[in-house]
Amino acid sequence: MLLERLRLRNFRNHASLDIELFPGKNVLLGNNGQGKTNIIEAIYLCGTGKSYRTSRDIELIKWGESTFYTASRFLRKNGDLLVEVACSQERGKRIRLNGVHQDTGIEYIGAANVVIFGPDDLRIIKGGPVERRRFLDLEISAVHERYRKDLAKYRRILTQRNTFLKDARHLVGSMHGKAALDVWDEQLVSVGARVMVKRAKVIEDLSGLAQTAYKEISSSGLLKLTYRPSFDVVESCPADEQGITQKWSALFHRELLRLRQAELIRGVTLAGPHRDDMTFTLDGVDMRAFSSQGQQRTAVLALRLAELEFVRNEMGEDAILLLDDVSSELDPSKRAHLWKYIDRGIQTVITTTDEKALDELSKPGKVFKVQSGSVQEVSK
Ligand SMILES: Nc1ncnc2c1ncn2[C@@H]1O[C@H](COP(=O)(O)OP(=O)(O)OP(=O)(O)O)[C@@H](O)[C@H]1O
Ligand SMILES: [Mg+2]
Repeated sequence: MLLERLRLRNFRNHASLDIELFPGKNVLLGNNGQGKTNIIEAIYLCGTGKSYRTSRDIELIKWGESTFYTASRFLRKNGDLLVEVACSQERGKRIRLNGVHQDTGIEYIGAANVVIFGPDDLRIIKGGPVERRRFLDLEISAVHERYRKDLAKYRRILTQRNTFLKDARHLVGSMHGKAALDVWDEQLVSVGARVMVKRAKVIEDLSGLAQTAYKEISSSGLLKLTYRPSFDVVESCPADEQGITQKWSALFHRELLRLRQAELIRGVTLAGPHRDDMTFTLDGVDMRAFSSQGQQRTAVLALRLAELEFVRNEMGEDAILLLDDVSSELDPSKRAHLWKYIDRGIQTVITTTDEKALDELSKPGKVFKVQSGSVQEVSK
């Protein structure tokens, strides 16, 4: 898939921007604080419907203004797509796809696949489980509608079950409380097991792809991603999804019964996909605790390249790659590998402060100079 044209009005520090992108590499060149990452953020927003830097859409409105508007034209294998995202202080965010209004609720995931590699990415390895669940949910939701719906349903049931647990503390031991909780358990377990099985499957796929990418980039070390559910499920590879879902449902159910007393005392659900995690190991050693910053960075890059392959396998077309500040994130040999990789024909938007970085690129495509929120194409 390709992004052909991007227009912004009053988005962050860009009062007005209108650029046509190259199908290959696009470089945004400029000093610190000029608006390069803001453009990356705008492209991500157009693709996914959300910013990756803030959950408060009104922060994206240029200071002193009341509305922002973005329009982007994507070329997808099944046709052209005009994505318009706007947000005003009063009415919040609105999204239109080819002129048709979309529901921007939890189930909206976006119109185009984008993969981003940037300075904040290390948190996937170094941060807490919430970061890794967020990564995983975004990744799977972008390509599997069923997962998106299951996840939304799971979250709804979980919130209601937690409310019930808080209110039901005084019902501990009563028949009425037990019967009501049994009903919540059944609902949580069936949708929760589906979420878990999908996560396990995708982690296994990503692990294989990331392992290959890591080997290519760094020539030594075996990278592995492992699913760590909140309770023991024995089988790690769900070959027969339906059969495993049934088994994991039963295990989840048993775990909830085991934890029931503790849950009633604490007033929260103590097991399930909302407590899942995954680990990154390099040659069998936990990367979060023992790997160097450079190794962690390489692992995240391998993960992002795995994501690109994953999207291509699932969707039958390439995602758009956004590379924020890779010159300061990666050493020259890793960058060389990256440039070779994207020369296969992946549309990429690269930000850099360093003009010399352009010399590394075999075919730079288009170069845009970004200065105080204004953007000009320069010939290179
Ligand atoms: N809502 C907003 N309205 C106006 N300006 C904003 C808004 N949000 C952020 N900015 C400004 O946008 C500027 C550019 O930010 P951006 O992150 O795009 O810079 P950058 O070119 O990527 O810089 P660096 O090279 O340091 O990463 C910042 O100075 C910030 O103050
Ligand atoms: Mg930046």
